Amino acid sequence: MKTVTELSSLRALVAQARATGKTIALVPTMGALHEGHLSLVRMARRENDFAVVSIFVNPLQFAAGEDLGRYPRTPERDEALLESAAADVVYRPDARGFYPAGFSTAVEVGAVSEGGEGAARPGHFRGVATVVAKLFLHVAPDAAYFGRKDLQQVAVVRRMIRDLDFPVRLVVGDTVREPDGLAMSSRNAYLEPEERARAAAFPRILAVAAESAAEGADARSVEEATRRELEAAGLSVDYVDVVEPETMRRLAQVSRGAALAAAVRAGKTRLIDNVLLRAGPQRD
Ligand code: PAJ
Repeated sequence: MKTVTELSSLRALVAQARATGKTIALVPTMGALHEGHLSLVRMARRENDFAVVSIFVNPLQFAAGEDLGRYPRTPERDEALLESAAADVVYRPDARGFYPAGFSTAVEVGAVSEGGEGAARPGHFRGVATVVAKLFLHVAPDAAYFGRKDLQQVAVVRRMIRDLDFPVRLVVGDTVREPDGLAMSSRNAYLEPEERARAAAFPRILAVAAESAAEGADARSVEEATRRELEAAGLSVDYVDVVEPETMRRLAQVSRGAALAAAVRAGKTRLIDNVLLRAGPQRD
């Protein structure tokens, strides 16, 4: 495994791999790696000959007052984990090289960015789309791997790939969870023990909601019941939306392929999660 910070070094390594006919995968991350990230790296490596993992805490996707400064950084541990997951290249650009003085271009993905996380975090998806577009241009991968935990991010990247004709196959990995069901996240490290205990209710309540949707409840009553349960469990709700995952449009009825996406706070820490829903008996 090689670690590079310069774009020219990255391009040389990728060109070498290409020249020997290898297929290239990219797994973009912000580091502080956990099993969720590593499951994507292993999948990328299994399905391709050469896997590039980027580690870059992208300032553009953090709004003023968010956690950019204290976002967890565990570089040595990340390297060791990536070595064991058989990554070929770790790409760690530095922020000044990635966004040099005068940088002023942005990728804005329309409607799909607007609800959910986009409404709660203005500018977030502009930052995500811009960094992912640049990473696609840096690595030129055949396939890029993203986690379903960030459902709207997947929708934004999918839309961008289509709209800008990136020749990249998007592969989505399932959410990896802690033994009690909490979705793994680098931000879970912020949780105090008491908040961590409360956070375990989040996936449980989403699972109950998925059952009631499967029994035929309509979208608004699934959302409202979920919101009530979350608040009762001491989690303050940012949003709970039944959506169509490609467009992130809110749905009135739970149709085939719908998802329930939610964001809550345990103390100051924001958590997101989602479950795929099965349509009710009359609507399948
Ligand atoms: P980060 O939060 O580090 O996540 C990197 C990738 O890992 C994303 O595709 C995310 O969906 C996936 N991931 C995170 N937790 C997961 C879990 N529990 N199970 C499965 N996959 C999980 O998402 C970002 O970074 C950034 O926005 C990025 C795409 C790198 C752009 O800066």
